[in-house]
Amino acid sequence: MMRTSIYLSRFPAFFLCVAFPLYLAIRGSASLSDIALLCSSLSERAEALHIKLTSWLAASPAPISKTSLNPLAEPATGSPEGGIRKTYQPLPDGLAHCINSFEQYSLLAEQGLQRKHARYSRQNPAQKTISNKLGYPAHFEKTRKGIEVNARFSEKIALIGREDYHTGSRALEDREDAEFGLVDLAFGHLLRDWSSQGAGERKAVFPPILDRLDQHFDGNGRGNKVLVPGSGMGRLASDIADLGYDVTANELDYGSILAYHLLTNHTHSLHQHTLQPFVTKWAHQANPSSRYSPLTVPDHWPNKAVQLIEGDFLEVFPRDGEFDAVVTLFFIDMSDNVIDFLSNIHRLLKPGGVWINLGPLKWGSYSALHLSAEEVLQLAVLLGFDVDHTSRKSIDSLYAEQPETLLKFTYVTQFWSATKRG
Ligand SMILES: C[S@@+](CC[C@H](N)C(=O)[O-])C[C@H]1O[C@@H](n2cnc3c(N)ncnc32)[C@H](O)[C@@H]1O
Ligand SMILES: *[C@@H]1O[C@H](CO)[C@@H](O)[C@H](O)[C@H]1NC(C)=O
Repeated sequence: MMRTSIYLSRFPAFFLCVAFPLYLAIRGSASLSDIALLCSSLSERAEALHIKLTSWLAASPAPISKTSLNPLAEPATGSPEGGIRKTYQPLPDGLAHCINSFEQYSLLAEQGLQRKHARYSRQNPAQKTISNKLGYPAHFEKTRKGIEVNARFSEKIALIGREDYHTGSRALEDREDAEFGLVDLAFGHLLRDWSSQGAGERKAVFPPILDRLDQHFDGNGRGNKVLVPGSGMGRLASDIADLGYDVTANELDYGSILAYHLLTNHTHSLHQHTLQPFVTKWAHQANPSSRYSPLTVPDHWPNKAVQLIEGDFLEVFPRDGEFDAVVTLFFIDMSDNVIDFLSNIHRLLKPGGVWINLGPLKWGSYSALHLSAEEVLQLAVLLGFDVDHTSRKSIDSLYAEQPETLLKFTYVTQFWSATKRG
């Protein structure tokens, strides 16, 4: 079956640069210069991606179906010329989707821009004249440049994914379509964890956790094992390691994992990578320039002593009583059943070990139980924790928020600590 990734790369190129402008020209609603502006860099980018994808195709056999996969990383059979058949190791869940999304960011983002442009173009001539006086058309140009900046970064992450998981140059099987939201979320997490613009957000939630650790271990990190499940882009884990603790991070989502690989294995200077994550966000802006704010990452070196364990928190830690502390930040509500997460935290702690939690209780449609804070703490007691009620407090916190936006979601997060009885 032909992969969506390939299909996607051709169709928008045609649509964006031929069909759509033609349609606009016929309707007479867009000036020729608008169209030229729109198409110049779009076609370059689409072409580049198209060439890249077609050269992969030329270099590799038809996309491989799940059933033909065989757990060998290396070419299995092959004839000397042409028709070389490779077999590849099956990829972990979600990885192909993630790599495809990073690879196709520019096309997906540009489709969004096209939709905005279509609505802009449908204005009558008088409205367009006024829009021009506002300098509005410049937004399309500037946004396109920002998308280019982001695409370079995004494609770098995709390449790292291909290298680190030995995918070769084949088109990747993906049960879902490439997803703009996945990349956008990764950009948000980079902002939160590794940019100076994220410092305010971190300052609200990290210190209570670090102070509680400090209290529990009398300011002595050395030799104490701390687990941070659902570590996201890993900044909290890194900051805990900076204090001397022996830190294990755990994450499931390849958007975060691959970006973290980029920061830890492929970065040689601070602020090396630039992105403009807000260029696709046109609402809630106070002034015309704030959406073009660049972000540079990382603002601090990720601590390389942190060990990242990739996979499901419920599956990847076979050994009981391994940790002196478990720290959960915006994590426990991600569970299908919070009883499983809390039981697992309890199992992984040594007797007397501490669980520190900070987060909202943002249960999703996947959650079996939608507990209140009081109920979560009652559950903790039932599972064998002693809750430290004096530690409890509410802390207002943003999450991966654009610093200059006019709309901010504040979580009233719940902070507590508890120790394993016994
Ligand atoms: C809301 S995010 C918080 C990330 C990070 N702690 C922060 O505060 O920025 C929750 C994270 O938990 C991860 N996650 C969800 N379920 C998981 C599981 N079963 N095992 C490991 N990670 C999981 C998600 O992929 C996501 O990165
Ligand atoms: C790159 O970095 C991650 C996280 O720091 C690590 O787990 C991984 O093994 C590293 N190397 C490769 C080749 O993936």
